[in-house]
Amino acid sequence: MKVLAVVNQKGGCGKTTLAIHLAAAWAKEGFRVLLVDLDPQGHASLGLGIHAEEQDLGTYDFLLDPTVNIGDMVVGVEKNLDVVPSGIILSAAEQELARQPGRESKLISAILRHADDYDWVVVDTAPSVGLLTFNALVAADSLLVPVDSSTFTLHGLEKILETLEVLEEETHKRPPCFVVANQFDRRTLFSNELYEDLASRNRIHLLESRIRSSVKVKMAAAGGVPVMSLSKAGPIRLDFENLAEELWNRLTELNVKRDEEMEKLILGPQPCAEGIRFILNAPDAGEVYLTGDFNHWNPGGIPLEKSVDQPGVWTVVLPLIPGNYEYRYIIDGQWLTDPGHSQTIVDEMGLENSLLVVS
Ligand SMILES: Nc1ncnc2c1ncn2[C@@H]1O[C@H](COP(=O)(O)OP(=O)(O)OP(=O)(O)O)[C@@H](O)[C@H]1O
Ligand SMILES: [Mg+2]
Repeated sequence: MKVLAVVNQKGGCGKTTLAIHLAAAWAKEGFRVLLVDLDPQGHASLGLGIHAEEQDLGTYDFLLDPTVNIGDMVVGVEKNLDVVPSGIILSAAEQELARQPGRESKLISAILRHADDYDWVVVDTAPSVGLLTFNALVAADSLLVPVDSSTFTLHGLEKILETLEVLEEETHKRPPCFVVANQFDRRTLFSNELYEDLASRNRIHLLESRIRSSVKVKMAAAGGVPVMSLSKAGPIRLDFENLAEELWNRLTELNVKRDEEMEKLILGPQPCAEGIRFILNAPDAGEVYLTGDFNHWNPGGIPLEKSVDQPGVWTVVLPLIPGNYEYRYIIDGQWLTDPGHSQTIVDEMGLENSLLVVS
């Protein structure tokens, strides 16, 4: 299951339109898709024919009440496409969340509870970076930022990149940021100049797919369906399908590259200038500590930090003098030998520990 958040602080640039159509295109391809409407305006819900006032439960409950059954919160709008709808009550969630511990990870916790039910979770966000949108950034494996090619302002994109810096500082996480030109008119100098400007920027992945402006988008929204459901959708349908395919391909490429980097990465304890670097691959771990002879097997352990460059990798450097050291990792409370280091020893209690020989 992968999470894509559609973000841009700039209002009206096409976040909801793209979230709906990506979700619909992937669902048509056979992926099981959940669209989470994380905007109190509720436009993604409305655009798929769901009226918040007719729903008892929605995103507010999804975020704040882990006891509610997913089936009671989602609305199935098409084959393979479910929506967690939102309405104005969601604006209260922002204040509610602010009072709670773990307030920035409520969305990811909610999504992970249903990870087996979906292949894709697409999150439509509001034009602001409050706690709700920050939850989307924390949950996202990747981001899609629509840029409205009919107005020459990249202010929203710059703001998102600044927010990603904050995210990286706080969580050591930086999801790849894909940018798509929306309402793009190939005939105008204006649209083309904007696209060239985007192409020259670092830190973003500019998509080749561009979305034209089409009256069908508004017609479909008014009817509460994606354009694919109109009998005469016209070429805009292809734009959305191409975007869905390109994004899928680009994400797959990135994953392959990451796997190749992981294969090159040497795990286990490695000598470095400051001593020994312990390197562990534990992508699903929430907390990792190291304990052993070097800290007299203190059960509190020595915390490992998440690597910024390699997602899922944890490291810590210890200034160890030559000698033999038995050790274990404490991964989310479980005491485990080092999976990246084959040398072990059985202690007098009959327990197996990892053994490091520093020469
Ligand atoms: N490619 C397009 N062709 C025609 N109209 C479009 C297109 N993309 C978006 N629009 C229209 O522009 C308006 C704003 O789009 P949308 O609601 O998707 O933006 P948004 O970024 O979600 O806005 P907000 O920031 O308020 O959530 C809508 O009326 C929508 O129908
Ligand atoms: Mg919107």
